[in-house]
Amino acid sequence: MDTADTLTAVRLDPFGRDQHAENARLREAGPAVLVELPGGVVVWAITRHDTLQDLLADPRVGKNPRLWNTFNEGRLPEGWPLLNFVTVPGMVTADGEDHRRLRGLVSQAFTPRRIAELQPAIEARAEALLDGVELLEGEFDLREHFAYPLPMQVIGELLGLPPKQQDELHALSDTLVSSSATPEAALGAQRGLFALLASVVAAKRAEPGDDLTTDLIHAREADDRLSEEELVGTLLLMLVAGHETTLNLITNAVRALLAHPEQLRLVLDGEQPWSAVVEETLRHDSPVGQFPLRYAVEDIEVGGVLIRRGEALLASYAAAGRDPGHYPDADRFDLTRQPARHLSLGHGPHFCLGSGLARMEAETALRGLFGRFPSLALADGPAPEPIGSFVSNSVRVLRVRKA
Ligand code: HEM
Repeated sequence: MDTADTLTAVRLDPFGRDQHAENARLREAGPAVLVELPGGVVVWAITRHDTLQDLLADPRVGKNPRLWNTFNEGRLPEGWPLLNFVTVPGMVTADGEDHRRLRGLVSQAFTPRRIAELQPAIEARAEALLDGVELLEGEFDLREHFAYPLPMQVIGELLGLPPKQQDELHALSDTLVSSSATPEAALGAQRGLFALLASVVAAKRAEPGDDLTTDLIHAREADDRLSEEELVGTLLLMLVAGHETTLNLITNAVRALLAHPEQLRLVLDGEQPWSAVVEETLRHDSPVGQFPLRYAVEDIEVGGVLIRRGEALLASYAAAGRDPGHYPDADRFDLTRQPARHLSLGHGPHFCLGSGLARMEAETALRGLFGRFPSLALADGPAPEPIGSFVSNSVRVLRVRKA
């Protein structure tokens, strides 16, 4: 059986690539493919739907970087650009009891009731942003003027982040998820985010607010269940996970609908709900391309290869979403697809905590946008450029016109 020692790793290049074409190549190579990330770091990409679903819920797979040989043995290159994802302290890098404790502290903020209560405010924010869009003349970037500010304002309010600092937080968070940032820039962005969020914590300590940051500070101080580092790490995770992904989802959905006017028609005529657009976009053009990293706690055999204990796995969500072994005619954007289930919000113990919020936000955004501008169209010109990131899957700019 093949192992990491007998195979040659496929080099992954996030810059300017067609992610879906590259994913197709990887899927064809097998359900678990040895790939080389920047800096020569070798991991197993899990590329097919059923295998990914199994491994995401497999107790032989963990998320604590201490399970990873390469990390423990100090073999990661200096300033490795994905180090932040692997080491950020918080639920996304915790297993078992630690994970339950951290996730439990934040999950009260995401109950279906709390999400439903947020809807009127989100609708009002979307309408206010669309009032601004009304004033724009000619072509404009939908990402900049609508898809970005909405989720940023929503997560900003949920966490109680000062509105004046939101653009700065976004710029730092963009650098953090961008694969084109130099190691120094990525490290600088992480330090900047930690410093900014630590200053928010200090301000909320002095003057508590009605927000998640204040709740987390109280949880920390009540019984010391959250270290200061975990507190800031959790805020960082919520900030990045809470807006970069939803921004991509809204952008990718608008792009798909404008490229497939017959599908948009189905929704405008009431034959398909907006929720079908959200689910089909999540599958067809997953906002999270791939998520680093997981680690084998023991040897695992997958489709003819042996992943050995201490080796790392990359969840290739965008590849799984277009797996022809799971979805007939997988490259087609089709709102009538049954069943429309996908893995793009994760699966198993780390299933996306903000899934309800993300779905509601995206639906509200799309309903508002096309309610106001039913004749929205893609601007003429070359196809939009991909972001160029290992984690984020979308386009840098989405130029549209109102009629
Ligand atoms: C379209 C929007 C979103 C997408 C596609 C998305 C996707 C994902 C995925 C794939 C994971 C699993 C990561 C892994 O492989 O371990 C995840 C986890 C997570 N997401 Fe989301 N997410 C979205 C929106 C949000 C929002 C709005 C929030 C919070 C406000 C959020 C908070 C989280 C958190 C805290 C986790 C970690 C959960 C854990 O480790 O237990 N996400 N998300």
